[in-house]
Amino acid sequence: NWTTSNVVEESVAAIREQVGDKRAICGLSGGVDSAVAAALVQRAIGDQLTCVYVDHGLMRKGETEQVEKDFVAATGVKLKVVDARERFLDALRGVSDPEEKRKIIGREFIRVFEQAQAEIVAEHGGEVEFLVQGTLYPDVVESGGGTGTANIKSHHNVGGLPEDLEFQLVEPLRRLFKDEVRMVGKELGLPDEIVQRQPFPGPGLGIRIVGEVTEERLDLLREADAIAREELTAAGLDREIWQCPVVLLADVRSVGVQGDGRTYGHPIVLRPVSSEDAMTADWTRMPYEVLARISTRITNEVPDVNRVVLDVTSKPPGTIEWE
Ligand code: XMP
Repeated sequence: NWTTSNVVEESVAAIREQVGDKRAICGLSGGVDSAVAAALVQRAIGDQLTCVYVDHGLMRKGETEQVEKDFVAATGVKLKVVDARERFLDALRGVSDPEEKRKIIGREFIRVFEQAQAEIVAEHGGEVEFLVQGTLYPDVVESGGGTGTANIKSHHNVGGLPEDLEFQLVEPLRRLFKDEVRMVGKELGLPDEIVQRQPFPGPGLGIRIVGEVTEERLDLLREADAIAREELTAAGLDREIWQCPVVLLADVRSVGVQGDGRTYGHPIVLRPVSSEDAMTADWTRMPYEVLARISTRITNEVPDVNRVVLDVTSKPPGTIEWE
């Protein structure tokens, strides 16, 4: 019978069986799936697992700290954090096109992750053989169901390491749906902030700034996003709302009046949506009072923002994210 404690127990046994006394690596993205997969594998093999977290500087307020502190505290996992914030900002300088940004972020992410991975492999004398991934059942079905090995080419000249590192995959969530993954995470003692986290795109705030990504703009968007999340949570809307992208229109300015004078600032877009699976979505009819609070706070507290607008488009025709 399906209980979360049975699932944990069986997964732990299966992981031990698969990995034996070998070593494994797991990349943490800050999302629910990789966190729960890592926690399960940690429960099974302890110190034989090393996690890698690439801090690309595109996370929301507090999320990196949640991984670095709360997740480590809850699981006891061995974590290598790579501070790659400068590197991502450099790579994104002058780029406004969303597809271009996605490519750059994806490429840099793989490079940084592979380098960290190679360092860990080197530390362990080449004995890391397993790569943990948070693949869910719907992902398995979508991709035709194969399991296998990940052949990760290294593009770096890291002294003495094999050019191609080959890993076998450990995918402890392959039979689970998202809500089950959350239950397993809770059973493993992960904090609610991680387990209940709403979907967030891999390229992070990088694609929620329409225009060039700069440190100032990221800071500004992080503040606005934190305010919106705080108010939505306080209003008890986290369940009703699938996710609420907060978007900075960095290339748009409009005239406003704030304090003693005229301003020429940016708009922030709120994009609350209701959805089952993100394939289609409707804009959430949320209470005006909550919208008003978010708007007042953002325009008061976030510099250079003088307007808050609400996106009332369903998907289709709009996507959930702006970009
Ligand atoms: P769109 O904007 O296409 O988004 O309606 C659908 C869902 O996917 C999320 N999203 C991403 N998730 N990596 C991810 O892991 C990505 O690059 C990415 N882009 C969009 C988005 O937040 C929404 O839930």
